[in-house]
Amino acid sequence: MIDIHCHILPELDDGSESLEMSVEMGEMAIADGVTHVIGTPHAHPKYPFVPELVQKRRDELQARFEGRLTIATGCDFHLSYENLQEIRHSPTRYTLNQKKYLLVEFADYSIPPSTDQTLHELHLAGIWPIITHPERNPLIRSKPERFFRWLRQGCYAQVTAQSLSGKFGKPAQETAEQWIGLNAVHFLASDAHNVTTRPLKLKETFDRVTKTWGADVAQALLVDNPRAAFDGKSLPWVPELDEDIGLAPGGTSTRKRKRFWFF
Ligand SMILES: [Fe+2]
Repeated sequence: MIDIHCHILPELDDGSESLEMSVEMGEMAIADGVTHVIGTPHAHPKYPFVPELVQKRRDELQARFEGRLTIATGCDFHLSYENLQEIRHSPTRYTLNQKKYLLVEFADYSIPPSTDQTLHELHLAGIWPIITHPERNPLIRSKPERFFRWLRQGCYAQVTAQSLSGKFGKPAQETAEQWIGLNAVHFLASDAHNVTTRPLKLKETFDRVTKTWGADVAQALLVDNPRAAFDGKSLPWVPELDEDIGLAPGGTSTRKRKRFWFF
């Protein structure tokens, strides 16, 4: 499996507190069947993002896992004004493995009305946004039509693996399950922060997804799509969204149509 979102790199944010903890997280990942991870520290007013330092931390950690685990860098990109100014100049400072995809996280307390336009502009700049853990955000849960609109604009969605086991509460769990069932999720990732409460494990989630939605879906969400994002390639698994989802309250038509690309 390939993990595109985790805070394994030490002493950069609220993730791993030391190189030793990062090594433990890496060993945990290997034992769980993970071959590639992308360390994605926050770029947030609370945690300044310095790509050179991120790369240095990655190199130190990679040296401890030569040939056993591939570690790349990315960013858990907070959609702030300052970050958006910065990314216009140098997109690959923030993208996953310095390629095409960008993890985009929203604040829990406000999502500005200009977000549709912002995501559109990122797309025009050649960046493919991945909305991180929408199931954990109460604002997105309360207005899912906005989330579905972003997907129709060409954004992708990443659910946190632990959401499916109820770690983030019933509403997040039920929403994650519902959206996977609606083909509105493209990735599962650990968003690991440590070795205890937020571990770097995905196997249990792989098995859970296999049991509920089938092995093909587990393979797509935990292996094939993450691998494509790691390599900066088009996703192999992007099933069509139901045409009525999010467009009208309670719309659950089973009719399908070709996905409409807004731009
Ligand atoms: Fe994160």
